Amino acid sequence: MEGRKTISGFSKLNKRGKIKWIVENFFKDPEVVMRELMSYWLKNEEQQKILDGFSENTISVFPMPFSVAPNFVINDKDYCVPMVIEESSVVAAASSAAKYWMKRGGFTARVIDVMKLGQLHFNFNGQPDRIQLILTKYEAYFKKNLKPYTENMEARGGGIMDFKLRTFEVEPDYFQVMISFNTCDSMGANFINTILEEFAVLLESKIHSEFDGLYEYRTIMCILSNYTPDCVVEAYASCPVADLGPLAGGIKPEEFADKFAQAIRIAEIDPYRATTHNKGIFNGIDSVVIATGNDFRAIESGGHTYAAKDGQYRSLSHCEVKDGIFKFWLTVPLALGTVGGLTKLHPVARRSLEMLGNPGAEELMQIVASVGLAQNFAAVRSLVTTGIQRGHMKMHLSNVLNQLKATEKEFKMAVEHFSNEIVSHRSVKDFIDALRSQRMN
Ligand code: MEV
Repeated sequence: MEGRKTISGFSKLNKRGKIKWIVENFFKDPEVVMRELMSYWLKNEEQQKILDGFSENTISVFPMPFSVAPNFVINDKDYCVPMVIEESSVVAAASSAAKYWMKRGGFTARVIDVMKLGQLHFNFNGQPDRIQLILTKYEAYFKKNLKPYTENMEARGGGIMDFKLRTFEVEPDYFQVMISFNTCDSMGANFINTILEEFAVLLESKIHSEFDGLYEYRTIMCILSNYTPDCVVEAYASCPVADLGPLAGGIKPEEFADKFAQAIRIAEIDPYRATTHNKGIFNGIDSVVIATGNDFRAIESGGHTYAAKDGQYRSLSHCEVKDGIFKFWLTVPLALGTVGGLTKLHPVARRSLEMLGNPGAEELMQIVASVGLAQNFAAVRSLVTTGIQRGHMKMHLSNVLNQLKATEKEFKMAVEHFSNEIVSHRSVKDFIDALRSQRMN
């Protein structure tokens, strides 16, 4: 239609052609924008090709900071943790919490279980016991016929663990078979989805042959579940209350422990606070999940469901102060992989994993949970001592100074000036403008 900015065959255009169409239709300065978007293309053409292959309609690269948080001691092992995040202060906070706990024994983490789940959803017009009969009678048959898809995983110690029938009163002709999997070091999405689709065919044929066409069966869908309450890791940090100091603002360790524990209890009882509290945990978790080429949306959605597992959304972390000991812990589902997917394909994700010593999935779960806990500790520590804005504003100041293209000297003077002043875009701009006009006169 005339005047519309739509196109058919966009995906067939090459990268330059796609950008050209976009800049000509949606930008005021087509040539400038085209040059700019192309300037982000990787110099290494092979790597750019790999990135292009991750998604459709790729036109450029969206740069994000690749940072590290050193000094993480987890189960007595030292890590320098890669983090990809755009939010000011997150990496600084993780690093500071890592260093704090490094001096107090570090983090301890353990994997509770590694079970992943997939669901076959279907319609069936018989009683549940008819399906149960098929599942029980033919379990060995199903496993044998799925062998071509499972044998590699079985050789690594994984595979199909269990079949479970689920029914829902409110949806009478709807049934579900939930299958549990151990996918070893891979996240396992393709493995699980392939098996589910093959299983659906096997189940349907057995239903027809066993009951001689008496019942109707219809596959609705086959897909893994991102809620993995049995793929869970726990991380904790603990020390005598007396060892918690020194703390910013001159607050005493006993008072800090008391306020901190109360802040956690508030997040356990109030979903409004719990959401922000858990967001802080996912600041840490997501950064490492992204840096290691894992699926942060899967991790987020599973984590939030877990946080609401008893019917109310609650804090994922908990704290106890008992007999003079402070203990702070996090329990979270983390369905991560260290083989397959992007983990080895993405050039930087590969280096992230190398930086972590090429961990297996379980070790990565322990690292990620510890970073989530560290992040949460740093946030709540700031909240109950100095307030969060002090740290944030430091980073905000440097972002504004960068925007204003401040020189090294201006940077130094601004940092000194704003150590006791309120930082806002306007106040920083006024300060820099004043400095520059003084120099002119
Ligand atoms: C900001 O990204 C995260 C915090 O809001 C987390 C929290 O409030 O616990 C600081």
